Amino acid sequence: MKYSSSLILTLIIAVTIFVACKHEPPEKGTPATIGGGGTGGGGGTGSTLVCFESDVLPIFQTNCAKSGCHDAASHQDGYVLDSYNNIIKEGIVFGRATNSKIYKVLFETGNDKMPPPPNPDLTAAQKAIIGKWINEGALNTINCSSGCDVTQFKYGANISLIMTNNCVGCHGGSSPSANINLSNYSGVYTQATNGRLMGAITHTAGYSPMPKNASKLSECQITQIQNWISGGAPNN
Ligand code: HEC
Repeated sequence: MKYSSSLILTLIIAVTIFVACKHEPPEKGTPATIGGGGTGGGGGTGSTLVCFESDVLPIFQTNCAKSGCHDAASHQDGYVLDSYNNIIKEGIVFGRATNSKIYKVLFETGNDKMPPPPNPDLTAAQKAIIGKWINEGALNTINCSSGCDVTQFKYGANISLIMTNNCVGCHGGSSPSANINLSNYSGVYTQATNGRLMGAITHTAGYSPMPKNASKLSECQITQIQNWISGGAPNN
C-alpha cells in the first residue's frame, strides 16, 4: 500500500498539534516569592496574606507528602506535594480555589476524597487556609512575621493547633503512625509525660526526629510545648 507524502505530512502535523495542546494545562504559572507577608501561626485574618511557609506547607508535608502517597518517590497521580515548586505544578488554578483540583478533593466523599482513609480528614480550618491561599494567588510567602508567642501555651489554643498542623496527618486517623495518637489530649499528654514528645521535636539523639520528613518546628513552637509540659501539661 502507498500513501501520498502530503497525507503523511498532514497526519504528522495533526498529531504534533494535538500533543502540543495536551501538554499545556491552562493552570500553569510561576507567581513571585513574597517575603514578609502573613502573620504566621493561624493564617491571619482579614486582608493579611496567608503565609505559605508557616501555615500551608506543613499541612501539605504532613498530610499529603507521605510515603506511598505524594512524596517524591511515590508521586501518586503525578502529584508531589513536598515543596512550593512542586505543589503549584499541578491542580491549582491561581486565584480560584473552587476550580482547583487540590482544593476540591478535600471535600469529595467517594474514592476521590483526599486524604484517603485511614488518614484523618483535614480540619475545616486547614481547608479554609488552603482555599484562602489559592484565592490569594497561591503565592510563595516566606519569612512571614511569626504570630507565635512563647508566653502563650494553653493546650486548646496553642498546643493542639501545633499538633493538628504538623503531626496529626500521621499521628491521627484510624491507624496512627507508631500507634501514637496526637489528635486528642490524652494521646499528647502520654507523649508529653513520657519524654518522647520533647525528645522527638528537639531532634535529641535516641529519638526519631519529628515531624518526620518535614521542617523542624520553630524555636518558638518548641518553647511553647516545653513551657506547657513544665507546667504539668494541663488540659487547659
Ligand atoms: C509523615 C509522618 C509523620 C509526621 C508528620 C509526624 N510523625 Fe511522629 N512518627 C512517625 C513515624 C512513622 C514514627 C515511628 C518512628 C519512625 O519511623 O521514625 C513516629 C514516631 C514518633 C514518636 C516516637 C519517637 C521515639 O523515638 O520514640 C513521637 C514522640 C512522635 N512521632 C511525635 C511526633 C510529633 C510531635 C509530630 C509533629 C510535630 C510528628 N510526630 C509528626 C510519623 C510521623
